[in-house]
Amino acid sequence: MIAKISETLEHINLQGGWPTPRLHPTKEIDAASSALFKQKDIQQNLRYGPELGSSNLRGAIADWLTESYAPKAGPVVSERVAITNGASNGLACALQKFSDPSYTQGVWMVEPTYFLACPIFRDAGLGGKIFGVPEGDDGIDLEYLGNRLQEVDERTDPLAEPRKTVQGGYPKIYRHIVYIIPTFSNPSGGTMSLESRKRLIKLARKHDALVVSDDVYDVLRWPASENEALEAVGAFTPRLVDVDRNLEGFSAWGNTLSNGSFSKIVAPGIRVGWVEAMPALISAMGTVGATVSGGCQAHFASIVVEKMLSSGALSSHIQKTLIPTYRARWLSMTKAIREHLYPLGVRIVGDEGEKAGKIAGGFFLYLSFNACAASGPTIASIALDEYNLKIAPGGIFSVPDDPESKVRGEDTYLHGARLCWAWNEEVVLVDGIKRLAKAILDASK
Ligand SMILES: Cc1ncc(COP(=O)(O)O)c(C=O)c1O
Repeated sequence: MIAKISETLEHINLQGGWPTPRLHPTKEIDAASSALFKQKDIQQNLRYGPELGSSNLRGAIADWLTESYAPKAGPVVSERVAITNGASNGLACALQKFSDPSYTQGVWMVEPTYFLACPIFRDAGLGGKIFGVPEGDDGIDLEYLGNRLQEVDERTDPLAEPRKTVQGGYPKIYRHIVYIIPTFSNPSGGTMSLESRKRLIKLARKHDALVVSDDVYDVLRWPASENEALEAVGAFTPRLVDVDRNLEGFSAWGNTLSNGSFSKIVAPGIRVGWVEAMPALISAMGTVGATVSGGCQAHFASIVVEKMLSSGALSSHIQKTLIPTYRARWLSMTKAIREHLYPLGVRIVGDEGEKAGKIAGGFFLYLSFNACAASGPTIASIALDEYNLKIAPGGIFSVPDDPESKVRGEDTYLHGARLCWAWNEEVVLVDGIKRLAKAILDASK
């Protein structure tokens, strides 16, 4: 019997959004942990941690964020930061504290969406109110969102009492939650402009929405031009939390929460992240039930991260290892896409026109198969069945709770796929793109 081609090929996974294990900074983690165990007061670090996390780490993160983003609104102070055990749980805790199944009227997720966030919203009792909002060409379709928020507000009772009361320990419940990844989005790879960020915040204020922004890829950034030095990457687009406090009319609670993580810049298993928001909101984060009972949810690991941050080991790892590696992979992958896939009608979303990136970064890019002779799902299944190549097909990025989501995506992301460069080495990425070209040709027959 003749073996299928797929059986003779090593599996290539361009779907998974994980860093290659060889990039985990094992030596730095080892050095930080060993240094901790040499300290006389190691026992202190093995006690329950403070609810908001180690004050040294909160300060170190605040300083690092100030240095990285140089926010116009002034330095990030430690009162704005709480330690979490990663962005997933940061979101879950924020929902436990600031949303209410009877009072919160809508969760608005940018589509294509980071689909693993959907169950977190359902866990918070918000199932049935989870809606998609098209990404449009600048991070989120603000007109669509504005109309939908208005519509929902008009048909629901703004005076209804939340079941979670102030007396019961819930000092602020938002009527809406907006979920977005404004920089190097997962999955689209897009970055939202400053102007749209400002407009989003004004809309959030008008409709009492908390915008939860997963800022987990921000610092992995480089100049898109191969000829530019890494240092030429330029300033960050201000994060939504910085825009919020810099725009006149902000409230004590604010309308934004920045969800940060060390998963992508240290290792996912370290399970440490942070949230940043207005001090009132952060202080209430420290009253989440599981935290009151168990203290900081990642206490020891977070102290290891603190050592790495304060010694400069983490910044050095990001600048000297992660960014150069990811940049080289991104360059190889995008070159291969232009060479092998562009002639077949494939395009990288956001690669053309005015917004076409001066800055690239994150983990993902999104391909559009709209101009190909074959459909996205057929391409993805032939790639897997015939070429042992896994890509993330567009269909997984709709919002399953919103029946209209798939309809809206029909002309855009559904006929596309997300590719990740964080897991594989350059040579594998190029091989993967060549296999995808073959799959597209087969699918077009
Ligand atoms: C947008 C986004 N948010 C959150 C996460 C998960 O973060 P963490 O590992 O910190 O829970 C990921 C990981 O893929 C992600 O892409």
